[in-house]
Amino acid sequence: MIDYTEKIPNNVDLGRDRVLQRALEHWQPAYLSWWYDMGPNESHNFEVYLRTATSVEPDGWAQFDYVKMPEYRWGIFLQPRDERRQVNFGMHKGQPAWQDVPGEYRSILRRIVVTQGDTEPASVEQQKMLGLSCPSLYDLRNIFQVNVEEGRHLWAMVYLLHRYFGRDGREEAESLLARRSGDTDNPRILGAFNEPTPDWLAFYMFTFFTDRDGKFQLCALAESGFDPLARTCRFMLTEEAHHMFVGESGVSRIIQRTCEVMKENKVDAPSDVRALGVIDLQTIQRYLNFHYSVTLDLYGSDVSSNAANYYTSGLKGRFRETKLEDDHTLQDAAYPVSEVVGNKINTKQVPALTALNERLRDDYIEEIQAGVNRWQRVIDEAGIPFRLTLPHKGFHREIGNFAGHFISLTGEILTEEQWKAHEFEWLPSPNDYKYVQSLMSGRVAELGKFANWIAPPVKGINGKPLDFQYVRFN
Ligand SMILES: [Fe+2]
Ligand SMILES: [Fe+2]
Repeated sequence: MIDYTEKIPNNVDLGRDRVLQRALEHWQPAYLSWWYDMGPNESHNFEVYLRTATSVEPDGWAQFDYVKMPEYRWGIFLQPRDERRQVNFGMHKGQPAWQDVPGEYRSILRRIVVTQGDTEPASVEQQKMLGLSCPSLYDLRNIFQVNVEEGRHLWAMVYLLHRYFGRDGREEAESLLARRSGDTDNPRILGAFNEPTPDWLAFYMFTFFTDRDGKFQLCALAESGFDPLARTCRFMLTEEAHHMFVGESGVSRIIQRTCEVMKENKVDAPSDVRALGVIDLQTIQRYLNFHYSVTLDLYGSDVSSNAANYYTSGLKGRFRETKLEDDHTLQDAAYPVSEVVGNKINTKQVPALTALNERLRDDYIEEIQAGVNRWQRVIDEAGIPFRLTLPHKGFHREIGNFAGHFISLTGEILTEEQWKAHEFEWLPSPNDYKYVQSLMSGRVAELGKFANWIAPPVKGINGKPLDFQYVRFN
């Protein structure tokens, strides 16, 4: 169980380590001042119907109640330790899992923890303004839930930094509160986390695409031979599932609403669809193209000696590592990666160890495709002849083998000029953003009401009806 009587709720027996406890209690006010500054705008007095983790067991780990967000019980929750756990891959395979940081991997591990940790507050910063234009109280509650849990994910990484990385760790924990998404002088570490999230369509796309990158990174780290990292990531994954639900169902509801309006009014031209106050499917496709391509970059270079090192050292595994049937060292295995040669895209086999970023990206793409297929079903069921598609993997990429090339949606290699001529058929234009934002100019806050551009969800939160007061504004 989690001890909520402590100043910092935890299930790691924090009270027994006074030095660590004091260090974290010192970081806590700095965290809160970050939340007041960069957390959801004008929300500090709201009472929000939130879930809070009460235990890390899979059944009944959360309870629901009204909470003012600055009073949310952020804390440190690790999956219970399995005494028999081993390092399951790489050159240390078969050794007991490490309970402390192996000296030789200290700086790599710190980098991994910091890079993961940095994404958590970044997304809160990116979503800061969206509460002011929510389509319903239900959706407002959901974004706040995502935000407080991203805050807790920051706590999870900061605990590791404080507990296992000494003074360097404490300094990194402070830097995590100092960087700002999109800041020119002190930006967040990864590109997608410096992009703005200017509207709710972007928010749902972000939680579908980019939170799912989070899921895959956490899955790979949950395999780590460094046991405290594995255990903290396992618990974070239970929270992450809700974020992706918010994204997938959010986009799905927008598509559903658009299709309803198109059918009722027998229109299909984007301008006619827009005239009816919903988001045309073409614009949804352009948002999809943007978020997909920007998120693919988060997996890093297709061929990477760092990825190979992380794996061989036992620090970061593959997606579902222990379920895979091979030798878990990958000494002789190969994996296909794409590259641009002249004006063609070729596939070549490279040592699988060096292609682990690409492999994780491919695992991710498979899951994304399944989600896009579910969105497609909504369109098909409405009988509308429109296909949502994933862009070619090389489209609009800035990292890896496709960086610096101008690849069309369908994978042709173009000149910069040719590509630019199509840019706003493929990616949201300033006009698209303007239109979408024009739909979201204020907050829809009446009980049970939803903005015109989005369908209500199938059911409410925790068995509550759709007209439940999910947020009290005070
Ligand atoms: Fe997260
Ligand atoms: Fe998330």
